[in-house]
This record gives sequence, C-alpha cells and structure tokens, in this order.
Amino acid sequence: MDVFEAIYNRHSQGKVKPGPLPRELIEKLLDLAVQAPNHYKVRPWRFVVLTGEGRNKLGEVMTASQQKRHPDFPAEAFDKCRATPLRAPVVIAVGVDVPSEPKVLEIENVCAAAAACENLLLAAHAMGLGAKWRTGEWARDAKVKEFLGFEVDQHIIAFLYIGYPEFVAEPPPRPSFEDRTVWLG
Ligand SMILES: Cc1cc2nc3c(=O)[nH]c(=O)nc-3n(C[C@H](O)[C@H](O)[C@H](O)COP(=O)(O)O)c2cc1C
Repeated sequence: MDVFEAIYNRHSQGKVKPGPLPRELIEKLLDLAVQAPNHYKVRPWRFVVLTGEGRNKLGEVMTASQQKRHPDFPAEAFDKCRATPLRAPVVIAVGVDVPSEPKVLEIENVCAAAAACENLLLAAHAMGLGAKWRTGEWARDAKVKEFLGFEVDQHIIAFLYIGYPEFVAEPPPRPSFEDRTVWLG
C-alpha cells in the first residue's frame, strides 16, 4: 500500500476481533512508530504494550480509581470500566518524556510522540489491522500512570487499541484543508 492510500483510507476502527496479534507484528508497528521525526533526537516516546492479562490488570487499576472517586456509581459502571481495556487484544499506552534539559521543549516532545502514534496507525492500516487512538480520563489518571510506570507529570497522549478488524468500513469523508489554510505569497 502506498503512503497516499494509507493516509486517505486510514480511519478509526473501534470494533476489532478479540484474537491476539503475533508479537512480531506488534514489534513491526513499534519499529515503524519510532521512525517519526523528533527534535534533538531525544526519542521522547514511551510505549507500554498491554496484551492478555496486562489489559485485565489495567482494567482493575482503572476501576479501583473510579471506585475511589465515585463510590456512588452503580455496579454496572464499574463492570464497564473494568472491561474498557478489553476492547482490543492489544492496547499500547504512549507516554511522553518530560524534558531533562532546557533546550528541549515539552510541546515538541508531545509533537514527536504524536507523530509516532500516527506512523503506527498508518502502519496498522497498511497491514490490514484496525486501530483506534483513545485518551479519555484514564490518560490523566495518577493511578493509571503509576501502574504503567509513568511519572505523575508525564503525559499519556494515547491508548492505541489494535486488532484485526471486525469489518472493513468505508473511509469517512474528511473536510478540506481550505478553510484552515492561508497562503502568504
Ligand atoms: C489525541 C487524540 C485523542 C483521541 N481520543 C479519543 C477518545 O478518547 N475516544 C474516541 O472515541 N476517539 C478518540 N480519538 C479519535 C478521534 O475521535 C478520531 O480520530 C476522529 O473521530 C477522526 O476519525 P478518524 O480517525 O476515523 O479519521 C482521539 C484522537 C486523537 C488524535
């Protein structure tokens, strides 16, 4: 698949099959992710690959956090929360390094990690996989960060949900660049 086709036809695919993905395939996705540009070559991206039991553990951490913050929620809400990471066989949490020297800017690290995420989504699409970038409150949850090995001041910019697609959907039409662009000739 050429790069134009991958970019035009990639779309979020939330419904994927539960079957596992081979480890080599996940490694290939990560290898393609880290080809992204990054200023000062700091490689600011951090990946935590959750499969199998790892997703259950994340679900437990999320649920414990939710129970603490919202003890009044009904049991069904906690069950739903617990099952959240099970929506795909592979969930990759993407964190960003906090800069350790003044010339490195956090926003540029976030940009580089986001570029790595897009690389990964395009690669997943080119491999016939379905994937979806999610964040939500869990990306900012201190207990989730701790479980994933991130510092509390580190950003989690994505939970990339990946699996074999349930069905191949038509790519959505996307608005033009025109109303978002000015030309200074
Ligand atoms: C930083 C970021 C965070 C996102 N978080 C969520 C999310 O929490 N839940 C969700 O359903 N989609 C999330 N998305 C996916 C977008 O909703 C999706 O990309 C958008 O609807 C465009 O659809 P497309 O990916 O098919 O082009 C996120 C996308 C980005 C870039």
